[in-house]
Amino acid sequence: MTHQFPALSEAQKRELHETALRIVSPGKGILAADESVGSMAKRLAQVGVENTEQNRRQYRQILFSADDRISSCIGGIIFFHETLYQHFDNGVPFVKMIRDRGILVGVKVDKGVVPLAGTFGESTAQGLDGLSERCAQYKKDGALFAKWRCVLKISDTNPSKLAITENANVLARYSSICQQVRIHYYSLSMYLCGHYSDISFLRQHGIVPVIEPEILPDGDHDLKRCQYVTEKVLAAVYKAMSDHHVYLEGTLLKPNMVTPGHSCSTKYSPEEVAMATLTALRRTVPPAVTGVAFLSGGQSEEEASVHLNAINNCPLAKPWILTFSFGRALQASALRAWRGHKENEKAATEQFIKRAEVNSLACQGKYTGGENCGEDYQLIYGSCYAY
Ligand code: 13P
Repeated sequence: MTHQFPALSEAQKRELHETALRIVSPGKGILAADESVGSMAKRLAQVGVENTEQNRRQYRQILFSADDRISSCIGGIIFFHETLYQHFDNGVPFVKMIRDRGILVGVKVDKGVVPLAGTFGESTAQGLDGLSERCAQYKKDGALFAKWRCVLKISDTNPSKLAITENANVLARYSSICQQVRIHYYSLSMYLCGHYSDISFLRQHGIVPVIEPEILPDGDHDLKRCQYVTEKVLAAVYKAMSDHHVYLEGTLLKPNMVTPGHSCSTKYSPEEVAMATLTALRRTVPPAVTGVAFLSGGQSEEEASVHLNAINNCPLAKPWILTFSFGRALQASALRAWRGHKENEKAATEQFIKRAEVNSLACQGKYTGGENCGEDYQLIYGSCYAY
């Protein structure tokens, strides 16, 4: 039987929990603006813009220059490494402006998906080497939370047991490193006597891990199959979290909603999606987890908002805050409005604000819109989407 090392003090736990709570406080969710350089290439290509550092900065500036209206809708923004060190045209660092708005800064810390040998096209995510040092630096540079994305696929045989176990484990290792890190100090007297045994201390990064085991919507599977796989994946994730002594109150989960595969011929109502999603979460996610912030996974902007709204109105007990951590479903209209033209920047920012406001209502179950669901699906959806 494993014994619990007293890793975090009560004060450290409180700090992690409070940070997690601030990100998902009522009416707030997360803007995922952490697309890697490669993912930005695909986004910008859709609107005929070249993928240069300057254009990526210009585009992020459109999102980040949204006025105070977003302060009540967005609790945290996830940055990509490059963006964390970029500035507005007037020289103000992005991070400073976001923090001045009371929005928490997060950063994507995985280094992308890599093939998992011995599987049929499955993957794990890399980036554990040096993660502790990167967390320390990001903390100094203003980040209070992090994101790590793993990807699982549904087919007749996938996800395999190996992919489920490996991805759960890497998410747990990442989470424990974010929350705390063991540092080895060599005692000088022991060193001088020729004894190299070390003394370990725990230093706290105090970074809230956002845990993202994304199950892709690729395939023709139905809602039931997605629910079954989601339950298996989340159960493995929380077993690994327990094994790695992760402090759940200081974490956020970023799962897929339970939806049918994009090629599934059966259509399901938002209420059916909500029931399947909440059933899967209730069977596997401990109530100690502070919040669940869904990814949009290639749904249209409206579809994602309508589903989030239905999830919050589902007549099942919900022990967690249920909100959004959308990338594409917060940005698609803004990107389309911009198309790389200076004169469109204001209109693009307004589009982003509109989506932030809609999702702020949806995460409280108060959104009453929802026409034109699915219209922009083709533009947003990309198969085997890599962030
Ligand atoms: P989407 O909302 O576009 O799925 O992206 C969220 C995200 O952060 C994926 O890692």
